[in-house]
Amino acid sequence: MSSVKTVAVVGCGIGHSHVSAYAALSDRFRVLALCDLNPERMKAVGDEFDVPRRVTDFAELLAMDDVDIVDICTPPALHYEQILAALAAGKDVVCEKPLVGSLAAVDAVIEAERSARGRVLPIFQYRFGDGVMKAKHIIDRGIAGKPYLATIETAWKRTAAYYDNPWRGRWDTELGGALITHAIHNHDLLTFLFGPVASVFARTATRVNAIEVEDCAAASLTMESGALAALSVTLGSFEEISRLRLCFENVTFESSRAPYAPGNDPWIVTPASEEVRARIDAALVDWKPVAPRFEGLFAAYHQALVEGGALPVTLADSRRSLELLTALYESAQSGRPVDLPIGSDHPRYADWRPERLRAAPTR
Ligand SMILES: NC(=O)c1ccc[n+]([C@@H]2O[C@H](COP(=O)([O-])OP(=O)(O)OC[C@H]3O[C@@H](n4cnc5c(N)ncnc54)[C@H](O)[C@@H]3O)[C@@H](O)[C@H]2O)c1
Repeated sequence: MSSVKTVAVVGCGIGHSHVSAYAALSDRFRVLALCDLNPERMKAVGDEFDVPRRVTDFAELLAMDDVDIVDICTPPALHYEQILAALAAGKDVVCEKPLVGSLAAVDAVIEAERSARGRVLPIFQYRFGDGVMKAKHIIDRGIAGKPYLATIETAWKRTAAYYDNPWRGRWDTELGGALITHAIHNHDLLTFLFGPVASVFARTATRVNAIEVEDCAAASLTMESGALAALSVTLGSFEEISRLRLCFENVTFESSRAPYAPGNDPWIVTPASEEVRARIDAALVDWKPVAPRFEGLFAAYHQALVEGGALPVTLADSRRSLELLTALYESAQSGRPVDLPIGSDHPRYADWRPERLRAAPTR
């Protein structure tokens, strides 16, 4: 049986980057179909990458028996229904962040996946790249030691032109602001490298653009390990950077500053001693390069599909990210610290939006 997986991509905005990454892995994936409500946008992507089928109705993708994977790149509020429909059609599913708009919704997706033929790959492509993966390797081998403090900066720039898109800037359609749309990646890297969060205190503000959701945030976290973390987020930084600084007992890591690829080398890795340096060198002696962003993620995804192993990003990872968001929004809105875990009995389990908007549950 061929190990080439066939893909249909819905949504041709960031979907362009997905199709481009599948094309770079043409021995492993073939994009058979695109779907978008905007025919010009779809034509541009379809012509660039020779995608044979283009449809405007999502249901048509699901009916294509020769499509293995449905890759969802539509605006956030559409993800929930589209994931469930694709799982029900027997497809494997890839879905952009934020996966869904509440912990109740992600738990419903987890439940649906249990009885489905396919599995769900949530997108967290910032995990891929040599810098972040080498740090993960060093930490997981116990070389870094006890975690002390992490500083996570997401300082990007977004103007009014970016918000000239009907779904952006509103709770009902974007599901939140800079915390859920932009900093979600760097905050996923925090838990990927520094472990689970125990408690958060957050403040948010809308200062950069005339929008309903937050575009600045600051938060103070206690991790389950007892370490501390400080998150800072703004969409008003003229120099755009992402930066992660992770201080452990034996090693300090500082990421690259590339705003959309902080996982790439070079990272500054400072050992406490020559002995620690030697242990790091030994751990990395056979290092095999990890392609950055979508290409690295999809390469690992293909391997998991073919070998039947765990997906490189799981619904549990997505739930952890949405749980942190629930806590951050609850803290910012209540003015109080919020402890994790957040279970189904928590008042914000079904909806993290401000109280005035909480008439109908979000998905
Ligand atoms: N991983 C990342 O780095 C990254 C970057 C950008 C966006 N995103 C996420 O990707 C998703 C899409 O964002 P975007 O920036 O591409 O948005 P966008 O508005 O630029 O593109 C979305 C596309 O979906 C199409 N669409 C909308 N409803 C549809 C439907 N019912 N059927 C078919 N097509 C439909 C629109 O016509 C549009 O072309 C969001 O969840 C966003 O948060 C992720």
